[in-house]
Amino acid sequence: MPTVLLLGAASDMAVAIARKMASKGYTVQLAARSAQRLQALCSDIEVRYQVNCSLHEFDAIDFASHAKFFHSLSQKPDVTICVFGYLGENESARVNWSESEKIIHSNYTGAVSILNIVSNYYAEQKKGTIVGISSVAGERGRQSNYIYGSAKAGFTAYLSGLRNRMFREGVHVVSVQPGFVYTRMTESIKLPPLLTAKPEQVADTVYAAIQNKKNTVYVKWFWRWIMLIIKCIPEFMFKKMKL
Ligand SMILES: NC(=O)c1ccc[n+]([C@@H]2O[C@H](COP(=O)([O-])OP(=O)(O)OC[C@H]3O[C@@H](n4cnc5c(N)ncnc54)[C@H](OP(=O)(O)O)[C@@H]3O)[C@@H](O)[C@H]2O)c1
Repeated sequence: MPTVLLLGAASDMAVAIARKMASKGYTVQLAARSAQRLQALCSDIEVRYQVNCSLHEFDAIDFASHAKFFHSLSQKPDVTICVFGYLGENESARVNWSESEKIIHSNYTGAVSILNIVSNYYAEQKKGTIVGISSVAGERGRQSNYIYGSAKAGFTAYLSGLRNRMFREGVHVVSVQPGFVYTRMTESIKLPPLLTAKPEQVADTVYAAIQNKKNTVYVKWFWRWIMLIIKCIPEFMFKKMKL
């Protein structure tokens, strides 16, 4: 049976993705900070889907631990899904470097650190799938969240370059670009229902992208076109807008 590793497994999206992958017969590895808190989820996945599930301690911004973390997995995953992220507070980050640094490390540097290790392993094996959950926020900087957005932009560019590098190695890289999703990250924000997806829709999109060898996928198809329009607004107009 194939194995999937979820990095940032306590996230609402990761939980939905873990259940989806388990329902398709994948052995599940849940990696998170304080991973023991996911014991009930892990047991539920094992009973409900009749697959093995294991817990692994993982901190995305403890870069020095990443090589040991990956190399100590007794079973190497066929699919690695990088879900962790941190929205943070743009206003606070503007004046507080530690908040900026946390946003950048949690959405970009941490992902580069762990995915370099995973992708080097997959390149040696000449197989494997990497999925990165980035964001439409990375497609154009906006005043309300440009520190988070710029970190996601970096992650999106990293995934694109990684896909290009790994193509000849037989390794598949998927970039996932969600718009709004109802999760813990957005619970304090009033989201427009028509534009907002549920974590289960993200999970369906991720599974289909893996199966169909997609490169970049949007959760809720119209976000591709919304972002195309946003990217086409001339800069002299865009800079005056309140977005
Ligand atoms: N919700 C949206 O509207 C939306 C839209 C576009 C993209 N995204 C992206 O989707 C991904 C999943 O987010 P979500 O919406 O499911 O939010 P979430 O439930 O808040 O999940 C974020 C997860 O990231 C984990 N995390 C943060 N820093 C970490 C670190 N240093 N090490 C390990 N794990 C860390 C958190 O772990 P703890 O549980 O330990 O805090 C949390 O479980 C994120 O990358 C987010 O940026 C979200």
